[in-house]
Amino acid sequence: MDRIKIHAPATVANLSCGFDVLGLCLNHPYDEIEVSKILERKVTLEILESPYSNIPDNPNDNTGGVPAQLIQKDLDFGFHIKIKKGIPLCGGLGSSAATSVGVVYAINCLLDSKLSQKQMLEYALEGEKISASNPHADNIAPCLLGGLTLIRDTKSLDVINIPVENYYVALIHPHIEIKTEQARNILPKNVKLDIAIKQWGNVGALIFGLSSNNKELIKRSMEDFIVEPVRSNLIEGFYTIKNNAIKLGSIGSGISGSGPTIFAICESKIIATEILEFSNSYYKSLNIGCDVFLSKINDSGPIIV
Ligand code: HSE
Repeated sequence: MDRIKIHAPATVANLSCGFDVLGLCLNHPYDEIEVSKILERKVTLEILESPYSNIPDNPNDNTGGVPAQLIQKDLDFGFHIKIKKGIPLCGGLGSSAATSVGVVYAINCLLDSKLSQKQMLEYALEGEKISASNPHADNIAPCLLGGLTLIRDTKSLDVINIPVENYYVALIHPHIEIKTEQARNILPKNVKLDIAIKQWGNVGALIFGLSSNNKELIKRSMEDFIVEPVRSNLIEGFYTIKNNAIKLGSIGSGISGSGPTIFAICESKIIATEILEFSNSYYKSLNIGCDVFLSKINDSGPIIV
């Protein structure tokens, strides 16, 4: 095989209480990535037109270009990579991670799957480092593995894939600019023990709730005492959207990754659609642009198209 095209999915990092340790893979939105083998021993990038095409085409500055070059170093051929971004940039939907994972996954297919899952994560994390100086794996791991992922340890990339029921996820992306770096810098450096106890109680309960499909437990435990109270100040209307989502029947809502996207997990498409309709008209009334996406949980990661 000399050419492959794949879809690399968006992800919801943190899932409220699981800052830097939990991530969920989605079906929509996604980046479309095509990789072709070329005779020259180098990596070239082509960014295809899309609403989110404002990304570097220099492989040294691109989250897909960096891992591609690292893999190419040991090969006697190169790669031409076409990227069509479908995931908003700086939206909190793991856009940079999807490009990174998508390129690594596609290249691995062209190399007859010679890379292990761990090696793919290591290469993808090198790409992710371009967008965040303090790398986190809660976007790249769910993007590659699918489903719900727990990052037990980022340094050793000890990641655990947790089977979950296939819920609908409503995603509201108000056009408010937040850079991950900025959203990390405002967080507290220390956490009081009583707050930490409440938070890790919630993380454990949320994982059990999601894996046992216990909706009441998910609802009770999807609460973040550390990050959301600070980051919500960056997202106009956050509590209006979240409270309305819960009122309409969502089983849990919060900030997706570093924001500004707000997610709401729902049992039915009808509830998710009502949440999106309300959110759309709410941001319209504030004169703030907004994209909305409706997804199911993606339990397999990138797909070959
Ligand atoms: N866990 C990271 C953060 C994800 O919240 O900063 C960024 O997408």
